[in-house]
Amino acid sequence: MKRLLAVVTVGFGVALVGAVNLSSEQRPQASAAAGAASAPTFAKHVAPIVYKHCAQCHRPGEVAPMSLLSYEDVRPWARAIKNKVVSREMPPWGADPDQGLRMRNDPSLSKAQIDTITAWVDAGAPRGDDIDLPPAPTFAEGWTYGREPDYVLEMPVEFDIPAEGELGVQMFYSKIPFEEDRFAEVLEIRPGNRGAVHHAGVFVVDIPEGATLLNGRLLDKDGKVIGDRGTAGLPNTSGMGLPGASKLLSWVPGRGVDAHRANVGKRITAGKYINWQVHYNPTGKPEKDRTRLGIWFNKVPVTHEVLIRQAGDPIATNRRGLSLYRAEGKEIEYTADEGSTRRRSATPNIPPYVENWELIGITPVTEPITLYAMSPHMHLRGKSLKWIVTWPDGRDQVILNVPRFDFNWQFNYELAEPLHLPAGSKITGIGVYDNSPKNRWNPAPNLPVYWSEQSWDEMYQAFTEYSVDSQIVVGINRTTQPQKR
Ligand code: HEC
Repeated sequence: MKRLLAVVTVGFGVALVGAVNLSSEQRPQASAAAGAASAPTFAKHVAPIVYKHCAQCHRPGEVAPMSLLSYEDVRPWARAIKNKVVSREMPPWGADPDQGLRMRNDPSLSKAQIDTITAWVDAGAPRGDDIDLPPAPTFAEGWTYGREPDYVLEMPVEFDIPAEGELGVQMFYSKIPFEEDRFAEVLEIRPGNRGAVHHAGVFVVDIPEGATLLNGRLLDKDGKVIGDRGTAGLPNTSGMGLPGASKLLSWVPGRGVDAHRANVGKRITAGKYINWQVHYNPTGKPEKDRTRLGIWFNKVPVTHEVLIRQAGDPIATNRRGLSLYRAEGKEIEYTADEGSTRRRSATPNIPPYVENWELIGITPVTEPITLYAMSPHMHLRGKSLKWIVTWPDGRDQVILNVPRFDFNWQFNYELAEPLHLPAGSKITGIGVYDNSPKNRWNPAPNLPVYWSEQSWDEMYQAFTEYSVDSQIVVGINRTTQPQKR
């Protein structure tokens, strides 16, 4: 206990260092002045950046409000583009560029690219010579992971999205059709309706005793809908709250596929259920969606299974580790059981009007593990979330800092190089919440905030993907080709 407290203190120390924003304001002027004679042009310098880093979202039928596919498209937005790239709001990405490890899916522009766009805007956004223009980007309809999946699972029903209104996250369930556990090297969620799917998550869950499925919805033995967000009947009605739940992956626009090394895979457990969690944004007219999950099986024996835990949950599988949460200066200690919801009920509510409310989860690493990725999940009060590794020698290292958490962009941060952590390390997740009126997303600063799946309540999920090093040969996918659907 003493030692864990020491870690908390160190954690605070690191937190205070905080994010140092790039002061990128001076540089652009300098380069614009220097480059006045040969200002960058759209055709030659800017189009390649915009086509590669912006067009996948800024095109018809995608999430962004306007297309950026031609000079005519881009010109009216020049000022706004400069502002958004200088502030690093575009392309969307949450990681602090000055702190943490390199991520392989980081879409951020380089300093040089930002300077090019700035100099171009400052020079009056010249068109240049169309001869220099690269071909407009083309986008594959379909799976973005190079080839067709080995197997495709789809939502059990096609969902009718109403023309308007605010929809809660829709929960669907379907039985996993495999006779034995299978391992996925690559997973990709493919929304059926890119314009209307805001985000989606796929979990593997058990369903409660006596529950049945009707049209993809989960019913208890009395026929009441359960397993939906915010409905009563289960202690915690999220996918994660269902017994035996594990997250496979989630999708937001701009987020890539979930790919692992050839011998590392995610388990898709025979006999369990897929829980589809889809958040729709009505588009003004009635729409339909049937989101799918593409699976590329591991082709070699799987030596390491990818596990997902939240910071604060014990991370090694062979021992019950002591975990600690800390909030309002109090420790909330628990020994986790699989699927336990005790932590959440023990977490104090966030008081009204509090601007920087901190929740810290500390995970002792009890045997060597390898980390692959992290994804913060919080709701509308979520302000920042930071992962700190404490090495056995006591040294702290920030591995990921998301200084301005944005509910709308829940990214998965995939380490460029997997990180090996020896026994005796600790992983600390520091989450900060803003329940004050300064938080423009805050629906009710005057109320205490409870912990639940509802987006007006809060969550703290510092999802961390890892495998246990000592675990070898966990599974083999049968060589017989699985049937395609
Ligand atoms: C992952 C998808 C995605 C990518 C990639 C992306 N954008 Fe955006 N962009 C959006 C969305 C969604 C919005 C509207 C909501 C918002 O502002 O966050 C937006 C808004 C904007 C706006 C503000 C529009 C307004 O109404 O004021 C600008 C300017 C912009 N983007 C420029 C860019 C540029 C330049 C790039 C590439 C360097 C880029 N975006 C990359 C999704 C994206």
